[in-house]
Parts: sequence; structure tokens; C-alpha cells
Amino acid sequence: MLDLRHARYDTGGMTQTCPDTTPMDAPVLFFDSGVGGLSILGPARALLPHMPVVYAADRAGFPYGTKSETEIMARVPALLGRLVERFRPRMAVIACNTASTIALSHVRAALDIPVVGTVPAIKPAALSSRTRVIGVLGTEATVRQPYVDRLAAAHGADCTVLRHGSAALVALAEAKLRGQALDPDVARHALLGLVEQPGGERIDRIVLACTHFPLVQGELEAAAREISLGPVEFLHGGDGIARRIAYLNNGAMWPDTPPPGTAIFTRMDPDVEALKPALTRYGLTQIESL
Ligand code: DGL
Repeated sequence: MLDLRHARYDTGGMTQTCPDTTPMDAPVLFFDSGVGGLSILGPARALLPHMPVVYAADRAGFPYGTKSETEIMARVPALLGRLVERFRPRMAVIACNTASTIALSHVRAALDIPVVGTVPAIKPAALSSRTRVIGVLGTEATVRQPYVDRLAAAHGADCTVLRHGSAALVALAEAKLRGQALDPDVARHALLGLVEQPGGERIDRIVLACTHFPLVQGELEAAAREISLGPVEFLHGGDGIARRIAYLNNGAMWPDTPPPGTAIFTRMDPDVEALKPALTRYGLTQIESL
């Protein structure tokens, strides 16, 4: 069995490191359309418990996965620019595959801080797959990106890489974090979208190529058992991104006691209230609007 713990995950290419002069209390800014980025924040907080955090969710633009490339491009770099002006973060993590696969290079060009992207973990999936059939489960926008073609060609040239986009699974993750009852059919339908493609019955690795999906991994595992899918492993970039944040801050300092985490929303609505218990579990107790 390959040990992938120290393999360098692709976080969207190289970026500069945080300088030694970075103010200790400068936060790391996490960005997503909704709560999906919490699946990236979780492992990062576990590795770096002193990290000050601002978590931004573009609820006014949610969901990203059903939007066009032009809409994402028009929205994400400008929004990150406003957030950087307001919070002066030491670095930004685009905790969203859709935004990263479409707009990462534009965000990097627009900001003068390190920017880490979240891109599908096809590399570790291809390194470890025995059957050489890999599933990529993302949003509709992500799975059609040339970025994904390039990852598949670079790392899985000898694999069959099947793709499926599910907006319903994104909504399921949001509902779960609001504490709502979940429709058990949603995860099953999402998996069937991969498995029913030619060769799909041989899938042994499924890349969770949307940051919302690790939040419903338990539901996906239950659905995999229900449809009698052979042994399958789900992969995502959370741990790799945590290590990347640590690496980029190698010379920079963290405060002894980090301030309470801030969650900022581009639209306040009743669902934000329902999300508060989940946000608190990730250390996000200050709620603001942009
Ligand atoms: N969490 C996001 C991703 O990783 C986007 C979900 C959405 O807004 O559709 O792609």
C-alpha cells in the first residue's frame, strides 16, 4: 500500500510563501460559495490550532456549480479583492473546486498574497487505484473544466476517469449543516451517476471534487454499501491543503491565543442562524456580513 501522507497534493500550482514579517494576528482567509470550505478548514485547524481564521461564504452567489465560467470569473476575483482589503489576511485559500478550477490564476494575478487553490485530488487517486477506474464527483461546472482534463492526463493517463456533477449533493451538505433531515436518495443518485457509466462498476477511488462532499462522506459511504459498490475509497484535498498552509507559513509566526474565528456572508438570511451550531464547531463564533 502506498503511503500518501507526505505526497504533495496539487493545490493549483506554485505560490509565494508568507514572509517572516507577517503580523502574527493576520488571519488565513478561507473562501467558498457556502459551507463546503469547512471541509478544508477542519483539517487546517487540526494541524494549525493557533491559526487566526476568517471564513467567507458567498451565499449571495450560491450555488457556483450551476453557474457559467463567465459568471464565476466576474464574481470571485473581485469578491476576494474586497475581502483582502477588509481583513488583510496573510494568505487566501480558495476552499472551492469550482472557483479554483475556473478562476485561480485570475485571483493570483489580482492579489499580492499567497493563494492556495482546491483542485480535484486525481493525483493520489491515480497513484493508489488498483482497478485503474477513478470517479470524479464534483459540481457540474467543475467536472467540465479543462483543468480537470489536464489533471487526468498528467496523473491518470492509464486510468479511465469518469465524471459526474451533482448540485443536489451540494444542497444535501448545506442541509446537513443546518441540522435538517436528509433525503437518503440524494447520495445514491450521485453515486449512480458515476457507476452507471461504462466501466463504472470497477471504480475503486472516488475523488470528492467539491468541498461540500466530504461533509456528506458518511452518507456516500452508506449509499455505496446500499448499491453494493465494491471496495471504494473516497479522497479529497483537505489534509494536503492543511500541510500546504503550514509549509507556506514556515517562517511566519502564529499567536499564542488566536482570536475567535470570523464567518462572513455576502447575504444574511434565516439559514445563517440555522448554521450557527455547525460554524461554532469549527471555531467560527463571530458572524459578519459583507
Ligand atoms: N463547494 C464548492 C466546490 O467545491 C461549490 C459548491 C456550489 O456552490 O455549487 O465546488
